[in-house]
Amino acid sequence: MKQRAKLSVIGAGFVGSTCAHWAAAKELGNVVLLDINEGAAQGKALDLFEASPVEGFDSKITGTADYKDIADSDVIIVTAGLPRKPGMSRDDLLAKNAQIMTSVCKGIKEHAPDSIVIIVSNPLDAMAYVAKEVLGFPRERVIGMAGILDSARFKSFIAEELNVSVKDIQAFVLGGHGDTMVPMPRHCSVGGVPLMEMLSEQKIEALVERTRKGGAEIVGLLKTGSAYYAPSASAVAMAEAIIKDQKRILPCAAYLNGEYGVDGLFIGVLSQLGSTGLEKVVEVKLNDKEREGLNHSIKAVQTLIEKIKTMELS
Ligand code: APR
Repeated sequence: MKQRAKLSVIGAGFVGSTCAHWAAAKELGNVVLLDINEGAAQGKALDLFEASPVEGFDSKITGTADYKDIADSDVIIVTAGLPRKPGMSRDDLLAKNAQIMTSVCKGIKEHAPDSIVIIVSNPLDAMAYVAKEVLGFPRERVIGMAGILDSARFKSFIAEELNVSVKDIQAFVLGGHGDTMVPMPRHCSVGGVPLMEMLSEQKIEALVERTRKGGAEIVGLLKTGSAYYAPSASAVAMAEAIIKDQKRILPCAAYLNGEYGVDGLFIGVLSQLGSTGLEKVVEVKLNDKEREGLNHSIKAVQTLIEKIKTMELS
């Protein structure tokens, strides 16, 4: 009989512990929460486990600071790193989080070399690059979470504007996770009807702009951290697609091997996720404006990677 899947979450802060919460509640498998701050990981894991009889989910949840405990993980979600403060861009986190990502990925490489790794720490596209370099895993097994979150923000704003169910909105976002993301209103629909037939160009542009600044809007309100409910739900949606071999088509940051004319960078693209991880990159035909937006986004990611290449990461 097949055993339960094992999901490890690195970083037991706001995003990591909420990942553990969504994953356990969905009974995706047993969950290990690892943090450099051992007490926080153990305390949150125990607290969540004690919620299981109330909510009725069968998942074992344990906390640790020891990488040995992530051995044999099927999927690992990495959320370790500093979050943004008001006035900071995701890029301001670059140097510190690159160091953290390096040490985390060394632990994963040593103790869970066959796992599929989902990166959440920011700046996302750059952190995914650092992770892939350190892990040395094939691109199928290192995937970044960004597009699902950005698309979810776009979908929520569309649903609110039209006063319809979020379930009936289809929308996605391409490009890097940041101000240069490329929302794709041309491919959005509401109950199958093109969004462009339901809202004016001006209104759509306003929703796109709010989506672009969606992360900063939350940082501005929270003042002491960044978003965590929607980011963690998005990471867990990826883990679920992999653990259940759902073959879902989701916007994720994938390491491109020539798609969209890009080589060796993580960029947000439509990705098929199944039991082997990234199973396919689905290329979308772009019009001139979208291509221009994507090129701009690629340049922004490239600039960060150039900076990373000058850093000494140990
Ligand atoms: N190893 C393991 N855990 C670490 C390490 C490390 N080397 N360094 C830091 N951490 C842990 C911290 O102890 C903390 O518990 O990472 C956790 C980060 O949690 P928060 O500060 O609450 O940050 P959070 O809001 O969860 O965001 C984490 O996700 O969305 C991104 O931009 C966000 O990069 C940030 C990350």
